[in-house]
Amino acid sequence: MANWVTGKVTDITNWTDSLFSIKIQAPIEKFTAGQFAKLALEVAGERIQRAYSYVNAPDDNNLEFYLVTVPEGKLSPRLATLNAGDEVLVTEQAAGFFVLDEIPDCQTLWMLSTGTAIGPYLSILQQGADLERFENIVLVHAVRWGKDLSYLPMMQALVKKFQGKLRIQTIVSREKWSDSLMGRIPTLIENGELESAVGLPMQAKNSHVMLCGNPQMVRDTQQLLKEQRDMAKHLRRKPGHITSEQYW
Ligand SMILES: Cc1cc2nc3c(=O)[nH]c(=O)nc-3n(C[C@H](O)[C@H](O)[C@H](O)COP(=O)(O)OP(=O)(O)OC[C@H]3O[C@@H](n4cnc5c(N)ncnc54)[C@H](O)[C@@H]3O)c2cc1C
Ligand SMILES: NC(=O)c1ccc[n+]([C@@H]2O[C@H](COP(=O)([O-])OP(=O)(O)OC[C@H]3O[C@@H](n4cnc5c(N)ncnc54)[C@H](OP(=O)(O)O)[C@@H]3O)[C@@H](O)[C@H]2O)c1
Repeated sequence: MANWVTGKVTDITNWTDSLFSIKIQAPIEKFTAGQFAKLALEVAGERIQRAYSYVNAPDDNNLEFYLVTVPEGKLSPRLATLNAGDEVLVTEQAAGFFVLDEIPDCQTLWMLSTGTAIGPYLSILQQGADLERFENIVLVHAVRWGKDLSYLPMMQALVKKFQGKLRIQTIVSREKWSDSLMGRIPTLIENGELESAVGLPMQAKNSHVMLCGNPQMVRDTQQLLKEQRDMAKHLRRKPGHITSEQYW
């Protein structure tokens, strides 16, 4: 059973009509970058709870979550109406294995995300620990529209901070957008456009691929990497090249 603590909303940023970030102060136990908490609201006597990845680094007490309002969803539209000063329940302990401790050493670490699933990577990169063992890190954010690239300024600041180790690539699927590829992650891997834009190969001998977000993207990309790049799912008992987390 999860322990719940009461958090106070300190800030809401509405990036678009459907994307928002929520900052919360809450007495949680320390989490590991890449993990998620559960947020909950009491609605008509029922506690509605869902998982949300931390965006902030574990050392930062301003807990931050990046959300999309799922139309007809039970919780996300309610979280979208919160204001600074409102209360929200947060699990005291974080959960999840989408963390660097689970990733083997490699030359190039690919961090691929769709939509709000850029969050865990931003937490890992803002924390900045245990990254020496990768020569290159590539952060890829795939969204529908250019306006959905909410954290691009933070991504660009991280590129500066890492001085050559980190490369970023945005993908916009539904319109042409400057400095972005157009299409979907698996197609852009299959046709070589992603690697050519980034300037690094995605090969079993030198890469590990993290996948996060849309479950169909995760499944399709995994399948492609297995069939065309001879990559396998990474398990503790059987090391491989792919680590994933699905959001629904
Ligand atoms: C480990 C983990 C981490 C997560 N982290 C985040 C996060 O950082 N930010 C975030 O916004 N969400 C995140 N999610 C998704 C989140 O937990 C909820 O599923 C989401 O907010 C929808 O909840 P809801 O109650 O509004 O909709 P529900 O009433 O639960 O769902 C309605 C339907 O919408 C579909 N659905 C659920 N989520 C999405 C989605 N994001 N896009 C499209 N369809 C969806 C489901 O198929 C479901 O049947 C995470 C999920 C997991 C498992
Ligand atoms: N983003 C918005 O503007 C917006 C606005 C209102 C409501 N919503 C709601 O929010 C929810 C989540 O939307 P979202 O835009 O954050 O996430 P999303 O639907 O997962 O889309 C994010 C990115 O993932 C891509 N994608 C989807 N399926 C894929 C697959 N099988 N393989 C590879 N890539 C795939 C999308 O490409 P495609 O464009 O090709 O699908 C898009 O580039 C949805 O329920 C949506 O209705 C979103």
